Amino acid sequence: MCGIIGIIGKAPVTPLLIDALKRLEYRGYDSAGVATLINGHIDRRRAEGKLVNLEARLKVEPLPGTIGIGHTRWATHGKPSERNAHPIATDRVAIVHNGIIENFQELKDELVAEGRRFDTDTDTEAVAQLLTSYLERQMSPEAAMGKAMERLRGAFALVAMFSGRHDILMGARRGSSLAVGHGNGEMYVGTDALALAPFTSRVTYLEDDDWVVLNSTGCTVYQGTTTVERPEKKSGLSGALIGKGNHQHFMLKEIYEQPAVVGDTLQSYLDPATRSVRTPSLPLDWTKVSRVTMTACGTAFYACMVAKYWFEKLARMPVEIEVASEFRYREPPLPEGGVCIAVSQSGETIDTLEALRYAKSQKQILLSVVNVPESAIARLSHAVLPTLAGPEIGVASTKAFTTQLIVLLNTAIAAGRARGTLSREQEEKLALAMIELPARINETLNMEDDYRRIAESTLAAARDVLYLGRGSSFPVALEGALKLKELSYIHAEGYAGGEMKHGPIALIDDAVPVVVVAPSDAIFDKIASNFEQVRARGGKLVLLSDAQGVARLGAKAETSIAVPDIDPVVAPILYTVAVQLLAYYTALAKGTDIDQPRNLAKSVTVE
Ligand code: G6P
Repeated sequence: MCGIIGIIGKAPVTPLLIDALKRLEYRGYDSAGVATLINGHIDRRRAEGKLVNLEARLKVEPLPGTIGIGHTRWATHGKPSERNAHPIATDRVAIVHNGIIENFQELKDELVAEGRRFDTDTDTEAVAQLLTSYLERQMSPEAAMGKAMERLRGAFALVAMFSGRHDILMGARRGSSLAVGHGNGEMYVGTDALALAPFTSRVTYLEDDDWVVLNSTGCTVYQGTTTVERPEKKSGLSGALIGKGNHQHFMLKEIYEQPAVVGDTLQSYLDPATRSVRTPSLPLDWTKVSRVTMTACGTAFYACMVAKYWFEKLARMPVEIEVASEFRYREPPLPEGGVCIAVSQSGETIDTLEALRYAKSQKQILLSVVNVPESAIARLSHAVLPTLAGPEIGVASTKAFTTQLIVLLNTAIAAGRARGTLSREQEEKLALAMIELPARINETLNMEDDYRRIAESTLAAARDVLYLGRGSSFPVALEGALKLKELSYIHAEGYAGGEMKHGPIALIDDAVPVVVVAPSDAIFDKIASNFEQVRARGGKLVLLSDAQGVARLGAKAETSIAVPDIDPVVAPILYTVAVQLLAYYTALAKGTDIDQPRNLAKSVTVE
């Protein structure tokens, strides 16, 4: 979702603002803009659509100035037009904002009653007008921001630039992320360390309710009216890490990084020498945990679904999984001694964050599986189980998901060992299967032409596609369908194989490809029956199985791929790569915007 950047520079800042916005493109957006101060006056350029439109505009109407702010907007209040694009400005102040000002209508009513005229449909303008009203009452920018923070409700991050003040920028955060970058005589503020990466590696992360004043040499952070200390940290991100390399899309690059990042994540959770999981030090005793509640959104939720199978099977523990946006409002009672695990690539997703807050109110032990260790979800947790996926730029999650699965499987094994439900032999067998996984993923990637062929010949022309799976392959079917619909805009549904006859079977005819995710496991015979039910109705079957499964059912399928052999417990991780490739090549055949699918955002910081 929206990306924010602000720079107090020595040279013209517009090219740097645009560069930073390009690094924030991954978050998803539908308009963009920049503003600078020229002789004390705010000047802006904004454009609907992608950054190229803004760049074209800047070519015709350049924007000088050595202090400025920039924004990519994912529309919430008001359509994605130039008028509603940020920076939102009055003659006194320009604002860029991520998140939602929940009480904007109340503020707007008050400000309109004061005689102010609103020019946009955005909630953001309430902040700009509120600050302007304070400034017109002779408050300093600092006093105005401090007072505004008392009035604003919601989850947001914002940066403000003030007319006549070439020396300062201000930022504020509540819920959404915001970080300050320290340069040499230059200062930066932006959504995340990715935005700041090439400028500086010295980063100060703001906490909830912080507001900050930046000048060219440093920053002062406030909570209410008192100053607070926030440490300066070294960000490990480099420009190289966030490039596309030789790949056509970030998504393909990230799919191809999976052997490496799965290997890196394994290294920290598994000891290959002893073939046993490393037990991370957690503030809990698995033998005393009454229940595990797992919560997440989107693809990360499917990681919870797979993990439920693992915790139940390997650690014999009761597990509830909850879509975060439902969980937080249902307010279910959570048992004493329970653990809540939040799973999130960004660590920023507002529903997941709020769900974790709810679990905290229910006195659960809070764990999080996140890819961004400085994120809000990580900071709220009692312990963090990091995925070592590196920055994920493609909007559709790939390597973050497979590394989440690695972390969750190792955690389930650690719990099983502690609870005495998993023998040493079983642990060793699973460890060996995981050690093999990077090589098996590589073999799968080496077969990309087979996936491309199926994508082009069978999926790309379809209007609807069904994905079926049973057991822990069911979430993989859901993930396959989600990936296909978000990337290629083809309608796709994932179903538990056994449920097919309770509805979706009505859809099956020779125009509907059915992708069956079916490693040879204990319930292969059951999915084989579902396979026959589709076949009897003329459905076009695409079989993803291992050599044994393909030998059994391949001849009955329209097309099949033998995924490398792997232990069935670990199979969901490998089969995920298979469905990623199908979705990627289908989208490529359709020519859609793979890295930034329409209407989607990477970090969903609004409800
Ligand atoms: C968005 C992304 C998905 C992601 C979901 C949850 O919808 O497009 O790829 O799975 O958010 O994001 P998180 O950062 O919490 O994993």
